[in-house]
Amino acid sequence: DSQTNKQVQEIAADYNHLPERYIRKQDEQYGSLNNAGVSSPITQDIPVIDVSLLTSSLSELDKLKSAVSSWGCFQAINHGIEGSFLEKVREISELFFRFSGEEKKKYLRAEDNIEGYGNDMVLSEKQTLDWNDRLYLNVLPKHQRRLQFWPQNPSNFREVVDEYVSKIELINEFLLKALARSLNLEETSFLDQYGTSATMQARFNYYPPCPWPDKVFGVKAHADISILTFLLQDKEVEGLQVLKDGQWVGVPILPHALTISIGDQLEIMSNGIFKSPMHRVLINSKDARMSVALFCMPQTEKDIGPVDGLVTDETPRLYKNVTFTVDSFFNNYQKGRRAIDACKI
Ligand code: SIN
Ligand code: FE2
Repeated sequence: DSQTNKQVQEIAADYNHLPERYIRKQDEQYGSLNNAGVSSPITQDIPVIDVSLLTSSLSELDKLKSAVSSWGCFQAINHGIEGSFLEKVREISELFFRFSGEEKKKYLRAEDNIEGYGNDMVLSEKQTLDWNDRLYLNVLPKHQRRLQFWPQNPSNFREVVDEYVSKIELINEFLLKALARSLNLEETSFLDQYGTSATMQARFNYYPPCPWPDKVFGVKAHADISILTFLLQDKEVEGLQVLKDGQWVGVPILPHALTISIGDQLEIMSNGIFKSPMHRVLINSKDARMSVALFCMPQTEKDIGPVDGLVTDETPRLYKNVTFTVDSFFNNYQKGRRAIDACKI
């Protein structure tokens, strides 16, 4: 229908009509798991890890290992990026989405390509669309940046993104080494599978408020295919939930923290020890929410597999060697499937 091409921000401005395409279906796979029938609700919060202690403190390293083996994600504090800089990242994203539709549409993505500004990609007639507009950019490798999709307004947008990407690259490397050490592996065991030129994608998310919050998903339940995902949440507005032991648990906001999660590719490399968690985003009726996600991935088309040292007689290989692409992610996502399921032996 004609609403399919509208951005969610435009639809949200028209408060008397929710297009059919955005309405959740009863049987939405994973999405329908709504804490029903669970006798002991989870009361713990997602673990908080002090990144600055990971080299000196074995107990913090162990805490990291147990966080990513059970929750698959954690809130990173003292990660080395100044709170004031994270504020800038939030600010350029908010300013971009606050511009007129006309300004934003200079960066509109092609109908069949993920890169650029737009709403959920329509891959099938049946799919429920996410209540979310986004700007999606391939930020690494640098020489493959397509600057025609990088906003010129606000004027510091490109510069701030560039700096943020460099900072996250360093934390990614540092954490992958720590994660390898936590399993008593050579510290480059995961990084060795990156190939010669790492890739990274950025997704700037904007979720307008919705008068019918229970009828839509900001983002449907899914797991990321990255190695690690670095999420900067909104400063005040919650919405992210992670599936823990069959229950959806809200991820609280710690303004200076980064929410870091394991993606499918690290679950595979770790031969299933680290978990790539299912997560989703709920909408509320009052406030818009924003977030910025960076997805750290190996070189394009690089195949990855369980690290040798983790495949033993007692712990046989659980996954095939595989190559992930962003396109295959979206194909699976829209069908309510997990890419990793097809990789299991
Ligand atoms: C996502 O996981 O796709 C979005 C996360 C968020 O907006 O919090
Ligand atoms: Fe995600």
